[in-house]
Amino acid sequence: MLTPLLVTFTLIFTITDGRVLLYNTDKKEATDKFDCVYYVPNDGEEISYCRRPGGNQSYNRHKNECDNHGEKRLFRHLLNEEIHPNIVLKWSSSVEMADLYASVFYNYSLIDDDDDRFVCNCIKSGTFGKYCEYQLTHEAKLFSEAVTAQFEQKRTGDSWDTQRYGKIICYEALPCPSSPLCLDWRDICDGAQECLNGTDEENCDKLEFNECENDEYRCTNGMCIPEEFWLDGDHDCMDWSDEYYSEHEQTCPFYPRAMECDEHLCVNYMYSCGDGECVYWETRMAFQRVVEARDDCFNKRNLNHMCEVSPHRSAWTLESGLCCPDKDYDDPRYPAWNQIIASNISEYDKCQYLFRCVLSKNFEHNCPCNERNCTEMMIHECQDSERLIVYPPQGLINSNVIVKYNYTSFTGNLNFQYVYLSGSLKCRGYLIWTKALGVVDEVDELILDRRFNHVLCETKSSGLVYRYFESPHKNHQFCWNYSLTFNRRPYAV
Ligand SMILES: *[C@@H]1O[C@H](CO)[C@@H](O)[C@H](O)[C@H]1NC(C)=O
Ligand SMILES: *[C@@H]1O[C@H](CO)[C@@H](O)[C@H](O)[C@H]1NC(C)=O
Ligand SMILES: *[C@@H]1O[C@H](CO)[C@@H](O)[C@H](O)[C@H]1NC(C)=O
Ligand SMILES: *[C@@H]1O[C@H](CO)[C@@H](O)[C@H](O)[C@H]1NC(C)=O
Ligand SMILES: *[C@@H]1O[C@H](CO)[C@@H](O)[C@H](O)[C@H]1NC(C)=O
Ligand SMILES: *[C@@H]1O[C@H](CO)[C@@H](O)[C@H](O)[C@H]1NC(C)=O
Ligand SMILES: *[C@@H]1O[C@H](CO)[C@@H](O)[C@H](O)[C@H]1NC(C)=O
Repeated sequence: MLTPLLVTFTLIFTITDGRVLLYNTDKKEATDKFDCVYYVPNDGEEISYCRRPGGNQSYNRHKNECDNHGEKRLFRHLLNEEIHPNIVLKWSSSVEMADLYASVFYNYSLIDDDDDRFVCNCIKSGTFGKYCEYQLTHEAKLFSEAVTAQFEQKRTGDSWDTQRYGKIICYEALPCPSSPLCLDWRDICDGAQECLNGTDEENCDKLEFNECENDEYRCTNGMCIPEEFWLDGDHDCMDWSDEYYSEHEQTCPFYPRAMECDEHLCVNYMYSCGDGECVYWETRMAFQRVVEARDDCFNKRNLNHMCEVSPHRSAWTLESGLCCPDKDYDDPRYPAWNQIIASNISEYDKCQYLFRCVLSKNFEHNCPCNERNCTEMMIHECQDSERLIVYPPQGLINSNVIVKYNYTSFTGNLNFQYVYLSGSLKCRGYLIWTKALGVVDEVDELILDRRFNHVLCETKSSGLVYRYFESPHKNHQFCWNYSLTFNRRPYAV
């Protein structure tokens, strides 16, 4: 197969009108990526945009027709007409299809009279794909145009529009089933436990992120880099803490040459929006009313699954976790209130629904609080003896922390009342185990410090927790004790 491959490369370099060149279309089954387009920004390295197979999605790559009004052309007919492979490449089907055609074009003995192989000519503007199954957004004709337009929209558009389509960015290689919000890859080995039993912080001391050598510096995220890389003008720490703050840190998610941004970690006290943007941790704690909230993630990841407490404006949490910004939206999960009462929807779900109505000021179409007092309705419907309700959903912030509101005491801008500690937690030198669900007193630290596990590890409420020194899951006792940060201060875990 060497000959067709060489042909491909010659074809690529002779193509001039820039139709969409799609690669990796011929994968047979299990594959980590397929249908890739390479985008080369003017001033940067090429970026590949690929699809990944999701879940148990079937991988049927064999069709007999072309989609989107693509023209089906049999190889043997093309040969009869002496169509050159260079032409076929411009039909935006895929590099592999053009390649396959080239192999028979240069060797007629590889094809016989009843051969039914074909290639699609994607004639409709902006369509491409092995079967012309894709179409560029923004009525773009070139892939690069579509990419630029999407980032342009991200810069200039209303950020709430990000909630109307798409999915929350997820790192799927490490499932964290205790949380409704999937992990961002940046959550792994970042010194803050998100998953049950700290599975996202497991074995991290075996990475480079351990004690630094004498001629090394420790980045704010724990990574070690050689001393001479500090302030050398390039970002060497993944959190970029080896260079002075630059505007680029906050703007990089909005430009198509976002490669650096893909690798950008957030510094300790910030929350990662999943796309390279970082926001202040208190903004992530969107339910808190202790300190003033700052700007959300552009993609609203900090609010997802708890949209009702959005501090800047109300919104409604969809089943996907995204935030619906349209007042009076009719959520198909909830019928009118009298039907909800009659239905077999659980008490828990009814209470959650009512409470979300309260927090969002009756945002959803069927919210009943306008006619009746939701406080009274909740007292009637929700049988909790202490009159407390869990919000946001358990595990959203962290698997160890549960936040509860007292639903009898509603005021205009409701703050949470209690934070509870649950489960086990990896600490330096021991694992802590909660004996029972217990109230945490250090609430302010928790709201302001993303790595609040370190606060919880020191929790004074000794009646609550048991320190398990022999646990194999503890963090090493002297971990990071001898490393210095860039400004030669001890590295505070
Ligand atoms: C797998 O497919 C089944 C049946 O189509 C579906 O019910 C299930 O939700 C799918 N699972 C995932 C993880 O997508
Ligand atoms: C054409 O293909 C046939 C069958 O695979 C092979 O034997 C022959 O060497 C090929 N000819 C050329 C010129 O590559
Ligand atoms: C979490 O840790 C506790 C205590 O060590 C253990 O009983 C439990 O099975 C663990 N859960 C998971 C999901 O690993
Ligand atoms: C609840 O009601 C729906 C339809 O009204 C029904 O399909 C479902 O099986 C019921 N669930 C239970 C647990 O009774
Ligand atoms: C709602 O009910 C609570 C508890 O009965 C009461 O204190 C409050 O004044 C009521 N609010 C309104 C607006 O009726
Ligand atoms: C909730 O608030 C009510 C008064 O509004 C109070 O009587 C009750 O004790 C509170 N519950 C808890 C657990 O603090
Ligand atoms: C390591 O650091 C911790 C926390 O700063 C401190 O309590 C401990 O004494 C240190 N251990 C050594 C051996 O220096």
